[in-house]
Amino acid sequence: MRACWGLLLLSVSIATAENGSNGWLRYAPLPDNLRQHASSLALPSAIVTLNSTEASPIQTAGKELAAGIQGVLGRSLQVSHDIATASDLSSSILVGTVATYSSAGYGSLNASSFAADGFWLRVNGSSVTIISQNERGALYGAFEYLSRISQGDFSDVDLLSNPDAPIRWVNQWDNLEGTIERGYAGPSIFFSNGLIVQDLTRVSQYARLLASVRVNAIVVNNVNANPSLLNETNIEGLGRIADAMRPYGVQVGISLNFASPDLLGGLKTFDPLESSVITWWTDKTDELYKRIPDFAGYLVKANSEGQPGPLTYNRTLADAANLFARALQPHGGIVMFRAFVYDHHLDPANWKADRANAAVEFFKELDGQFLDNVVVQIKYGPIDFQVREPASPLFANIPNTNTAIELQITQEYLGHQDHLVYIPPLWKTILDFDLRVDSKPSLVRDIVAGRRFNKKLGGYAGVVNVGTSINWLGSHTAMSNLYAYGQLAWDPTQDSQELLQDWTRLTFGLDQSVVETVSKISMASWAAYENYTGNLGIQTLTDILYTHFGPNPANMDNNGWGQWTHADRTTIGMDRTVSNGTGFAGQYPAELAAMYESVETTPDELLLWFHHVSYTHRLRASGKTVIQHFYDAHYAGAETAQTFVSAWEALRGKVDAERFEHVLFRLKFQAGHAIVWRDAVCGFYHNLSGIPDEAGRVGHHPYRIEAESMALSGYSPVAVALAEMASNSTAVVVVVAVTAPTSSNGSSSSSGPAKGEAVAVLDSPDGVYDLAFGYFDVAGGRAHYGAFINDEPLLEWIGDLEDHLGHEFSTKLDGHSATRVTARGVPVQRGDVLKIIGLADGNEAAALDYVAVLPEGVVD
Ligand code: GCU
Repeated sequence: MRACWGLLLLSVSIATAENGSNGWLRYAPLPDNLRQHASSLALPSAIVTLNSTEASPIQTAGKELAAGIQGVLGRSLQVSHDIATASDLSSSILVGTVATYSSAGYGSLNASSFAADGFWLRVNGSSVTIISQNERGALYGAFEYLSRISQGDFSDVDLLSNPDAPIRWVNQWDNLEGTIERGYAGPSIFFSNGLIVQDLTRVSQYARLLASVRVNAIVVNNVNANPSLLNETNIEGLGRIADAMRPYGVQVGISLNFASPDLLGGLKTFDPLESSVITWWTDKTDELYKRIPDFAGYLVKANSEGQPGPLTYNRTLADAANLFARALQPHGGIVMFRAFVYDHHLDPANWKADRANAAVEFFKELDGQFLDNVVVQIKYGPIDFQVREPASPLFANIPNTNTAIELQITQEYLGHQDHLVYIPPLWKTILDFDLRVDSKPSLVRDIVAGRRFNKKLGGYAGVVNVGTSINWLGSHTAMSNLYAYGQLAWDPTQDSQELLQDWTRLTFGLDQSVVETVSKISMASWAAYENYTGNLGIQTLTDILYTHFGPNPANMDNNGWGQWTHADRTTIGMDRTVSNGTGFAGQYPAELAAMYESVETTPDELLLWFHHVSYTHRLRASGKTVIQHFYDAHYAGAETAQTFVSAWEALRGKVDAERFEHVLFRLKFQAGHAIVWRDAVCGFYHNLSGIPDEAGRVGHHPYRIEAESMALSGYSPVAVALAEMASNSTAVVVVVAVTAPTSSNGSSSSSGPAKGEAVAVLDSPDGVYDLAFGYFDVAGGRAHYGAFINDEPLLEWIGDLEDHLGHEFSTKLDGHSATRVTARGVPVQRGDVLKIIGLADGNEAAALDYVAVLPEGVVD
């Protein structure tokens, strides 16, 4: 590929098509054959919405149906709100609630078969009936109908659909100044400069997407909450947000800062049992409901990661939760009280210390003390959204408390949306997990739905963090996680792959090869990511002291955060047994406690979560040693990630150019970064243990030319501080000469960017190769690279990933900045001269690591 990147990007920007702003709600025209088929069918010719008012979800349902049918079928349908003028109902779409249906004289329905938000959809030829218990349920029914016809399905149906759980919320971690904690898609759509933004168009559009997957409420601000959200101006702003989302039936809630009575109210205390504090919260809550009568409630992170909480006053977490519950109760609001409470100053030298123990230790003794409108919101695993965790044992330990599961759609530990990871298969390992409370079936999904312990409230909270990015999450493919989250919160028994295929048809169209390809790569993605990041339950081996993006196995340990691996030269893993370790295994009901207690019965995928073993310990399933499994899994995972690129490339022309190139760019990045992960993790444990890879791969890169071994001018070798983040621990950087000051104010003149050249004579047999360039793209500069063969331009690229990707960038040469770019299908003759020219820019010294000259089929 002796082509230039710049030219490629130019041709992409000319062929603009879709930008992803409608997500899966595109209402794209059906292909001609299906349109023709549809025109042979008797289809509805009008829409009747019963008793709808301007802000009601029923009115929205009418508008969506009209827009959807127009888009999908090119037919224009009138919407009427008045039964008398409705055209022939036998060829109409009728939308209403059980109450309006019967008061309009269409007969009475069995109201008791509908749960709140549930709907009945009946398609009978040209007559479509959508009836629900409450207004937003009808909107859900309308979206269901539209999803079907958008996928070319016009068959008759008689479907009563009720939610599995009443709470189907999303959480945004948006800060008032406009940033988003763990957000990878630009700044907030809600806040800017301490205030709610004026233009809430995107907030309404977000509500539309949420409603279409039956999410019924949103918490709009960060759990690490700023008390000034509760000032008068911002309460009015929250009212505007609620107004913007109400037509979609999405209620608004907020995260609270527990110390607000002090920090905002000036009370000098935030003791939850102090009467002035109680009055302050009651008044604030009343003020909120005055502006937002359907306000959903509060989300509270207390005594966690430095946030204030009741423990300051020797009050319990239940005292705190109940304070808010009492204030909300008269208005029908609820408190989502987070179980993510732990000490982040643990002593790593203490082998009995365990962050995973914290939730049960804090909450078990409080079971039964929470008021009825409190829901304890529990992260799926005991630590923090890792690539693999066991189900949190807290679900089994508080049977007298309402619970909800917290899932994370924003990919904090899963590649920041720059890696494709379809997460539902991971969520399913938890939702379908049987905790065997009292030796009876106790699936996590039945516990959070309230079924197992007979609770009325419960459900789901998904941390989303959409931003101003036009495609919401920064990545088109990441939207499948948001889609599936809502669908699973409604019905967790749905199949991950079927959900994905529906999403794909709605997002990218009905071409079967597109559906199959997206399905194949997405369904392989979590396993691949687990393979090339951290396996056997050791967690995502990322940089937990900085951004949770690239590899850094070393800094999991020796700090107070408690995401430890306890790896040394011969052994690895947390001993969480009762007999010898932290006792965590004993927090599970008896059958599971016994299973996890023994190394013989613990499933391999959680071995190192529960046990501290030698690197030479053999796994049950494969008989491989732990260390060999690490090596093999990392190689296999990185190899799988390469296949995503070629699979997607085969879809060129079948997906619009804009989204095709956008997805391709990220998949290529992922393929390169998967190799960074592989080499960093394998290199780290190889260096630590001294145990060679049986397959001879780790530490041997016969196809690579290290940059430091090339003939250099302007470039100098540097030892990379985290040795395993660079091939052979060394990169080369352009030496930026300090020019003498030339003016009286001390500024210096520059004669163009500092430049480096690295030259190598290629020694590969004549043939066609992929040439992969390992380099570092750090924050604070846009270095320019050019690669030439025999002085002919081969590839040009810019270190500007920060302009294209969403992850937090690093200023150092490390696992976050290490990346690579590949020129494919390059004819090479032995003796060809390869030259790379790097032009430094700002903080970016055009750092280069290696060039790999790869014969077909070789991944390295
Ligand atoms: C993680 C995450 C934080 C977040 C916290 C939470 O620790 O890294 O950014 O605030 O979880 O869920 O409260």
